[in-house]
Amino acid sequence: MDEKLKPILTASEVRSVVKRLAGEISADYGPRVPVLVGVLKGSFVFLADLVRFLSIPVEIDFIQANSYGMRERPLQQVNIDKDHLGIDISGRDVLIVEDIADRCLTLKELVARLQAKGPASLKTCVLFQKVEGSDVGLKLDYLGATVGGGFVVGYGLDYKERYRELPGIYTIDT
Ligand code: IMP
Ligand code: MG
Repeated sequence: MDEKLKPILTASEVRSVVKRLAGEISADYGPRVPVLVGVLKGSFVFLADLVRFLSIPVEIDFIQANSYGMRERPLQQVNIDKDHLGIDISGRDVLIVEDIADRCLTLKELVARLQAKGPASLKTCVLFQKVEGSDVGLKLDYLGATVGGGFVVGYGLDYKERYRELPGIYTIDT
């Protein structure tokens, strides 16, 4: 294993977290059929696992945002690379599925854009939040776990496009 990486959550620990979130979502939405909107690219692994633990039917779409790209530091503004949805979300129950929330700039921008499309409801499901209790000014409706302040990779999350394929979660010395 890459010596810059320190394990923080095993694949099986991540699995328990995702399973719990799927249980909460299934209980809250059934019998409605929500539209899950995954935020590419980081949420692709999380969303794929999450939907397989659900006990309700859903529809799935994607949106693409980018606050780091190949850079060391996040952008001060969020780049939305793709906000066209194939599914018409007006009047639908929409759940944004995001890998990690830090300053929440990305989520706030996405919430504003999707809200403008007139959904019946709009909630957020975030696998990780950085630093417990940090005031991000946005309510996270479903939160998997909090992680420390360091940069984390694995399970879809990248550092300069690397490490997305790792099944567990690691912090990386950048
Ligand atoms: P925010 O807008 O500051 O909340 O940043 C959120 C976005 O930055 C997420 O969608 C991630 O793509 C990326 N990001 C923030 N922190 C990390 C991290 O520790 N690892 C990987 N990606 C991160
Ligand atoms: Mg992301």
